[in-house]
Amino acid sequence: PRYWLIVPAAGSGQRMQADCPKQYLRLGQRFIVDITLSRLLDNAAFSGCVVATGANDRWWPETDASKDPRISACIGGSERAASVLAALDALSERADDDDWVLVHDAARPCLHPDDLRRLLSELGDHPVGGLLATPVADTLKRTGPGSREVETTVDRRDLWRALTPQMFRFLALKRALESAIDAGYPVTDEASAIEYAGQNPCIVEGRPDNIKVTVPADLALAGFILKRK
Ligand code: CTP
Ligand code: MG
Repeated sequence: PRYWLIVPAAGSGQRMQADCPKQYLRLGQRFIVDITLSRLLDNAAFSGCVVATGANDRWWPETDASKDPRISACIGGSERAASVLAALDALSERADDDDWVLVHDAARPCLHPDDLRRLLSELGDHPVGGLLATPVADTLKRTGPGSREVETTVDRRDLWRALTPQMFRFLALKRALESAIDAGYPVTDEASAIEYAGQNPCIVEGRPDNIKVTVPADLALAGFILKRK
């Protein structure tokens, strides 16, 4: 099977409170989305790449990625899952049912090339696929719904923080996203849709510094992580 890359970049970055979507903020001289894409495409595994962008995205044409012949763009949706589905639709002429699709957030520029390589090699023969994730480090408390009163401490030994890339078979992912969205199931990542479809994604442990740039403080942190590598 071949490998395809999907990068959802159609969000508006509400929590970042910047004057453009966060994937178009710069770290050093470069757009975050350009850093993310060049790190991914440094790996030669991919046969092609689709980036889901916003409907009236005036920043995308300014990027280096928009001029890269390996990359095409499509219009995303109002939720991340809809953006990924739009990109899968854009791939449907080219991808075979059993091809692998890797989905990686535009807002995760710090993915380490070793983690990408390990994800590809550890899951390459897996029937379902899976995701990078990292063990939960904090002590977790459960309250009742809407309450501030702690009922229990959650055992974190079997808990993981989901990261991206997430890697699944083309047709299985497309069907899983379609039915989970139709059912109104909260699809916060690809793995949750695959779980909804009754399959078990496999975790590959990744570095916790593969952060999603989400709030203003994450910008400086991402700059620091990128300089260290
Ligand atoms: N994303 C997308 N389409 C959407 C929403 C999000 O393609 N409708 C993308 C974002 O561009 C980002 C990734 O999904 O690369 C992760 O989403 P998130 O961190 O939530 O980004 P935003 O939705 O842009 O930020 P916020 O939730 O703070 O508004
Ligand atoms: Mg969001």
